[in-house]
Amino acid sequence: MADSGDMVIIMLGPPGCGKGTQSKLISSKFGIPQISTGDMLREEREKGTDVGRRSSVFMDRGELVPDELILEMINRRIEKEDCNKGFILDGFPRTLEQAKALDDILKKMGRSIRQVFYFDVPDSELIERLGGRISCVVCGKIYHKKFNPPPSEDKCECGGYLLQRPDDNPEVISQRLEVYRKLTLPLLDYYRGKNKLFEIHGGGKTIEENSRIILKALSGE
Ligand code: AP5
Repeated sequence: MADSGDMVIIMLGPPGCGKGTQSKLISSKFGIPQISTGDMLREEREKGTDVGRRSSVFMDRGELVPDELILEMINRRIEKEDCNKGFILDGFPRTLEQAKALDDILKKMGRSIRQVFYFDVPDSELIERLGGRISCVVCGKIYHKKFNPPPSEDKCECGGYLLQRPDDNPEVISQRLEVYRKLTLPLLDYYRGKNKLFEIHGGGKTIEENSRIILKALSGE
């Protein structure tokens, strides 16, 4: 397993750009956890917790969940021991407030961001990717009906059933893209200013091609 010191990595980009797919690959390569705020919120909803109930309303509309709910969740998660070597933030931060709060949290922990990977993918491709995405209810593996098909039509390699996310419908996708442009895009300048941004023109590239670019960047080549 590769080891490159403290690895605090951020995956930034619009819905469907491949943050989750690439986070899982880095996680298994470096043995550090993928922390997806979207997955955490879906788990809370599944368990029927207060956080789950409060966030569902926003998620179903394609809007962002309030910063305070997200920050509380992140704070608790990155304190855990499995984050000692590093972690991959997938879908967080998403607002300038979240980014600034993350800086404060990391500073208190004596840690810093290694790299922010930003995937630039045209809207037409994002819509096609999200429309065909299916993921495993058991292990969370992400597939695409056309670009990354599962071994059988409705089952994952682990045997779990594959489902489409409820927010992957055309109306909610268009709202998520709108919210991304308004609230998350300003983070590009924020991280560019800190010299942390690594831009990947991910449109038209395969999952493997994008993965090679990331691994090369992390190995310092
Ligand atoms: P979240 O779950 O984070 O969703 P998202 O940001 O909209 O991103 P996605 O998971 O949809 O896409 P992805 O970039 O991970 O793409 P993937 O790898 O799956 O958030 C959901 C909701 O939770 C938000 O709307 C909000 O309400 C709330 N939330 C979450 N975090 C929050 C926060 N910090 N603050 C406030 N609210 C928050 O790939 C997509 C598809 O494309 C897959 O099928 C994949 O197989 C395929 N694919 C991937 N790469 C390629 C490629 N190179 N070529 C072809 N196909 C590809």
